[in-house]
Amino acid sequence: MNLYSQYLEFAIDIAKKAGEIQLSYFGKISSLQTKSSNIDLVTNADIESEKFILDQINIKFPNHSILSEEKGHIDNKSEYTWVIDPLDGTTNFSHNLPIYSVSIGLMKNDNIICGVVYNPAANKCFYAEKNKGAFLNNSKIFPTKTQKLKNTLLATGFPYKHDNRYDLSFDIFKHFYDKTRGVRRLGAASLDLCFVAMGRFDGFYEFELKPWDICAGSLIVSESGAIVSDWNGEKLPLSGKRILAANKYIHKEMQSILKMKKYKLFF
Ligand code: IPD
Ligand code: CA
Ligand code: CA
Repeated sequence: MNLYSQYLEFAIDIAKKAGEIQLSYFGKISSLQTKSSNIDLVTNADIESEKFILDQINIKFPNHSILSEEKGHIDNKSEYTWVIDPLDGTTNFSHNLPIYSVSIGLMKNDNIICGVVYNPAANKCFYAEKNKGAFLNNSKIFPTKTQKLKNTLLATGFPYKHDNRYDLSFDIFKHFYDKTRGVRRLGAASLDLCFVAMGRFDGFYEFELKPWDICAGSLIVSESGAIVSDWNGEKLPLSGKRILAANKYIHKEMQSILKMKKYKLFF
């Protein structure tokens, strides 16, 4: 483990401990509240996991900034910012579906330098550090080598806000559904990204995600050797507004579909 920086070691340690907090609530939620709408949920596991992670960062790196889903931006004017989703996949979690994670990324200025996504229910810890490859537990991970879209399995997700882009996104879904072996909707974007990195999915796309959904997972994807970008192929917007992650063979074809004129509402 000492091949890795103090940041990655720290992030893995706190992600695993936050995962234990999540597990202690799994199957026995006592507090379920809604946020922006009736389908946008927050549980006591989200809150406690976040509190634990933020406390640990404040002890170890008190000068660093933090961007965390429930607490927002804590701006300490540092070049380092921790980007945290204390529980990605809250809807799954609150329905006792074990597809959820802790997601912790670290940015130095505009670059993601390390990322950890931990799925406690399966004890799977995905992590990556810039230029050092991507790992699942102690093994290096790689994307698929599938070259034809018709042989692929993809993943996507849908935002909580149901507006006209949401309606149009079903057209994109159908387009990919018709051209591939299938498109899955698992409900935890950080794990969708890790599953591209480890070769379970050949590709993943989504819109209207947030920085904490994609920060750690996008580094894990690029370090695995897959490509992560904006829908138009340009640099990934760290806001999460559009993301495309895919193995290097199908990335271009997926991108050419996502940037079709009829989908211009997304740009
Ligand atoms: C959600 C999940 C889901 C995605 C949503 C996200 P949350 O995060 O990542 O897969 O489709 O857009 O908001 O709310 O469970 O942390
Ligand atoms: Ca999330
Ligand atoms: Ca969350």
